[in-house]
Amino acid sequence: MVGHDDDWLHGWCILTNEEMERAVDKAREIPGWTMRSELLVLARLASQVREGGLILEIGGLRGRSTVAMALCTMARVFVVDSFVEGHATAMLDWLSNTQPFSHVMLWRLDSRAAVKRWRLPIDLLFVDGGHSYEEAHSDIFGFGPYVPSKGHIVVHDWGTPDVKRAATEWMEAYGWQVCEQVGDLIVLRR
Ligand SMILES: C[S@@+](CC[C@H](N)C(=O)[O-])C[C@H]1O[C@@H](n2cnc3c(N)ncnc32)[C@H](O)[C@@H]1O
Repeated sequence: MVGHDDDWLHGWCILTNEEMERAVDKAREIPGWTMRSELLVLARLASQVREGGLILEIGGLRGRSTVAMALCTMARVFVVDSFVEGHATAMLDWLSNTQPFSHVMLWRLDSRAAVKRWRLPIDLLFVDGGHSYEEAHSDIFGFGPYVPSKGHIVVHDWGTPDVKRAATEWMEAYGWQVCEQVGDLIVLRR
């Protein structure tokens, strides 16, 4: 674990802890897989991305984590989701739940196809899509290079061996380290 060196970010954070907790509790009304403590990490990191910055989430499902971040940031939030896994109604729910946010955009596509077309710098990358080694590897190694040295990569399902293997290979290959671990979520910094 490495220490936090977030001074460069603090100027951007305009929300109090109480406001972020309220946002997260609102987001938790949406069914999903991310826990309150994990959503609080995402909300805090999202709040630190400057206006005009970019957050990319892989795997939005019904919008729980998307809304937690969207409520706490003025940055653009892109979500890549192919709505697989029999989640027939998930996209409609995602669209309905994120409808109030003009700074949130959906790219309905397999992330392995999306990464081939991606060109934008990413301030905060949240990887919570397919959990096979191949998918996690593609998401982390494909989008990771677009995250600058002061950005964050957040990986959910760290307890899933294939996800952990892909994230560990990324850290070893490019010198990223775990700076925070909450529940099944890790935050990586370089
Ligand atoms: C665990 S859920 C995401 C949970 C969500 N972040 C939340 O807070 O509830 C995983 C999502 O990733 C999507 N997904 C799985 N494999 C994918 C792939 N290869 N490309 C894009 N999306 C994918 C699924 O459709 C699903 O919505």
